[in-house]
Amino acid sequence: MSETVTEKKKVIFSAIQPSGTITLGNYLGALQNWVRLQEDYNCIFAVADLHAITVRQDPKAFRQNILNAYALFLACGIDPEKSPFFIQSHVHTHAELAWVLNCYTQFGELSRMTQFKDKSQKHPDNINAGLFTYPSLMAADILLYQADLVPVGIDQKQHLELTRNIAERFNGIYGNTFKVPEAYIGQVGAKVMSLQDPTRKMSKSDENVNAWVGILDKPDVIMKKFKRAVTDSEARVCVGEGKDGINNLIGIMSAVTGKTNDEITAEFEGKGYGDFKTAVGEAVVETLRPIQERFDDFIANKDYLAEQYRRSAEFALRLSQRTLDKVMKKIGYLAK
Ligand code: TYM
Repeated sequence: MSETVTEKKKVIFSAIQPSGTITLGNYLGALQNWVRLQEDYNCIFAVADLHAITVRQDPKAFRQNILNAYALFLACGIDPEKSPFFIQSHVHTHAELAWVLNCYTQFGELSRMTQFKDKSQKHPDNINAGLFTYPSLMAADILLYQADLVPVGIDQKQHLELTRNIAERFNGIYGNTFKVPEAYIGQVGAKVMSLQDPTRKMSKSDENVNAWVGILDKPDVIMKKFKRAVTDSEARVCVGEGKDGINNLIGIMSAVTGKTNDEITAEFEGKGYGDFKTAVGEAVVETLRPIQERFDDFIANKDYLAEQYRRSAEFALRLSQRTLDKVMKKIGYLAK
């Protein structure tokens, strides 16, 4: 290739559900990477609000949560001028391709999804079909944009594998239609664990509010949650087997400060867990402080938010329609 020809940047797609609270897990596992990747890739991001109704939502709170999530991601550093950032329900191609992909996804494959098993255990009174077929909607999100890479935390890896299988199956039947995407999992923060049960991932659906930290939690709340974090009885700040709580806190410290595990261990040599927990809490507070300040500015400016999500949705529709048209034609649908 000649020096003057610029290599086409790879395409990245990712999305986050607008649940009431966006957690430190979401931030370190996904958002922080999205922000970094914006420079080197063609990034497209979305608030996955269609996914969110697999559990019941209160309409008023839901509407506010979608807007809050949008404002919060801008506050974290997503720049919609650079990376189109839209709201999934504003772009109809997602639901349309999801239906098509449902017909190329096997019951057995969906039954194996651990998130489906977990969520149906948590909500035994509402195991709806959407909860079951949710991974085909996620596959549609990704495949519509012909994404090369999908930055996610480890908990979404299985859904990514399924997306690849669906894409390969479709391509196998109809010829090359979809780019087969790869998961992009960050080196730090890929699985932030609960502060109360560090064998489980940090999740906003945890009933124990001390188990997770919300990006918008106030500094005193954050400090309290870290001080109460469950650890072990060894009282030595280092990574080790059976030290899930401390391993998790070291992981968080590393993700927010950029320090390595060894540097953190050296820094806290001879110090107790109390000091360490306070230091991790303070580092998290300092990381979140500017985000919280920017959030207040963005959420107060609804017109700006609307301008950004509308423009991004128009862009996303144009791009995704191309893939959907190709898919419909290949299957044999009559052109409009
Ligand atoms: P969601 O909304 O549950 O989580 C959003 C992102 O945060 C990551 N994450 C974590 N990372 C590290 N530690 C944790 N404790 C933790 N908890 C959550 C998730 O891995 C995810 O990257 N189905 C997706 C949203 C989605 C999507 C997509 C993602 C819809 N369409 C297309 C990628 C591509 C979900 O429910 O993520």
